[in-house]
Amino acid sequence: MSSLYRPEHAASRSLLRAVEAALDGPVPREWVEALTAVPRHHFLPERIWLENGLGGYEPCDLSADHQRWFAEAYFDVPIVTQVNDGEQPGEDVWPSSSASAPSIVVRMLRDLDVQPGMKVLEIGTGTGWNAALLAHRLGPGRVASVEVNENVARQAWANLNAAGLSVELLCGDGSLGWPHQAPYDRVVSTCAVRRVPWAWIEQTEPGGVILTPWDSPMIPWGLLRLTVAEDHAEGRFSPHSASVLMRNQCRDLRIFRDIVRDDHRTDESTSTFSPHKVTGNSREARFALGLLVPDIWTAWDSDTDRLWDEVETAYGWWQDQGSPGPERFGLTVTEYTHHAWLDSPDNTL
Ligand SMILES: C[S@@+](CC[C@H](N)C(=O)[O-])C[C@H]1O[C@@H](n2cnc3c(N)ncnc32)[C@H](O)[C@@H]1O
Repeated sequence: MSSLYRPEHAASRSLLRAVEAALDGPVPREWVEALTAVPRHHFLPERIWLENGLGGYEPCDLSADHQRWFAEAYFDVPIVTQVNDGEQPGEDVWPSSSASAPSIVVRMLRDLDVQPGMKVLEIGTGTGWNAALLAHRLGPGRVASVEVNENVARQAWANLNAAGLSVELLCGDGSLGWPHQAPYDRVVSTCAVRRVPWAWIEQTEPGGVILTPWDSPMIPWGLLRLTVAEDHAEGRFSPHSASVLMRNQCRDLRIFRDIVRDDHRTDESTSTFSPHKVTGNSREARFALGLLVPDIWTAWDSDTDRLWDEVETAYGWWQDQGSPGPERFGLTVTEYTHHAWLDSPDNTL
């Protein structure tokens, strides 16, 4: 064995093969260089959280199980890096920050079409790995990143410093962007949105690109790539990505309990349209319904018949169009409106 052998080299080669398989093609050379220079495991905390097979999470500590921890770092999977907003979890353990799966990180970097000399704003720093890859490619003073959670931001700061990479890191609400370094050539969000914040568009150069995972009450799915014009931004979805919803766009489920109380009488009606059609296997159906009836949740037993009619109509429309997937849909965003469309911007939903 050569004295230069490092286990992460072999692991990172095998991860690269997994990413290429997921991307159906080679990883662009400039990103291979960045991935090699910035090892993913340097950005993971001592404690990561793995699925326990029972629908929950269990901790895996580097010091207690080095082999498992290291293997997880080089699988093409997302890794939960913080639970319960950093509070000591009780019985209810929920992920509050994660390292995205490497294939989605690379897909987004590729789709972002970053070129030397560009300025990039990232929303959702997380571990700092994605920001580090960008900073490695673009050099100092070119990457800013905003993270809402203070502890996560602090750790990302330490990770980036240890890697010797220069990123302007802010702790705050990324839906406001970061006007002090604007305008940007690219804005990339690693948390999903249901509305594209206007601030991102305002802070992007005309001709620039905004890339963000999409979310709807029906399904967290779809990667939206917008090109910015003077007074709007427009672009298409692709059938990728699933990410945590951006804080401040989350709906509080208690709202539902507050609206429909036990003493309320709800309208009841009979429909032959099965709820399984919209809650079942078709991700494409749920994605389309999320665009067509964005304010309807999947709490079917509480919806009135009027809302169910809307869902049924939307589902029928989607079938009539040939059951399109996300790649046939797009979005036009202005300061006050979001218009979803099918195939071309003049064919609004
Ligand atoms: C999928 S993780 C980030 C992955 C990360 N880019 C990496 O390379 O590890 C999404 C992050 O978005 C953060 N986030 C959620 N809402 C936010 C907001 N409104 N502003 C800024 N960050 C936010 C979360 O705290 C979480 O750390």
